[in-house]
Amino acid sequence: MKHILVFSGSQRQDSLNRRLAFFLAQQLEHDFTLDVVDTKDIDFPLFNQDDERNPEILKKIFPIYQRFLQADGFVMVCPEYNGSVTPFLKNTLDWISRLSRIAPDECINPLQEKPMLLASATAGMSGGILGLQAARNIFNYLGSLVLAEQICMPQAAHAWNDGGFPKDTYLLEIIHHAVGRLSSVLYPSV
Ligand SMILES: Cc1cc2nc3c(=O)[nH]c(=O)nc-3n(C[C@H](O)[C@H](O)[C@H](O)COP(=O)(O)O)c2cc1C
Repeated sequence: MKHILVFSGSQRQDSLNRRLAFFLAQQLEHDFTLDVVDTKDIDFPLFNQDDERNPEILKKIFPIYQRFLQADGFVMVCPEYNGSVTPFLKNTLDWISRLSRIAPDECINPLQEKPMLLASATAGMSGGILGLQAARNIFNYLGSLVLAEQICMPQAAHAWNDGGFPKDTYLLEIIHHAVGRLSSVLYPSV
C-alpha cells in the first residue's frame, strides 16, 4: 500500500483543522497506510540559519523529516492566518527543507515530486482559500505535486453533524472527489 502523511498546520488543542485532518484520514484509511502527525508534539525552535547545524536541534528535526521522507503523498490541512499559512507550518517546513541543503549526501528533499492534497478549515466564512494559495506557492516551490482539487471548510466549528460528517453535502462531495483524485494519482492503474 502507498503511504500518506497527514499533517495539520495547527497545534491548538481544539483545532478545527486537526478535526478535518482526522476526517480526511478516515476517508483514506482503506486504501493507504497513514501517518497522522500529532503536531502538538512538535517543538522546533523558530528557525534561525545560525542554528541550522546545531546537533541538539537537528535531533528534533530529523525524526519528523524521516516521516515526511517515508510518505508517498501528503494531505496538508492548513489553517489560514492573515491570508497565509501559520507560522508553525512555515517554521516546520523551513527546518525540514534545510536538511537536504546542509547535508546533501545524506538527505534528499522529502517533498520532491510527491502528490499533495491541500485542505483548510476556518472559523469564518473564507474556508481558507487565501491561506491555501500561499500554501500552494510554498509546496510548489518545494517540489510537491499539488493537486488542483482542494478542500475549504468555512464556519468549521459548526460544520459537522452528530455522525461526524460534514453537514454540507456538497462539501462532502468535494471531499470524496478530492480524496479520489489523490488515490488515482497514487494508484494510476486503478
Ligand atoms: C493570528 C490569526 C490570524 C487569523 N487569520 C485568519 C484569516 O486570515 N482568515 C480566516 O478565515 N481566519 C483567520 N483566523 C481565524 C482562524 O480561522 C481560526 O482561529 C481557526 O480556528 C484556526 O485554525 P485551528 O482551529 O485549526 O487552530 C485567524 C486566527 C488567528 C489566531
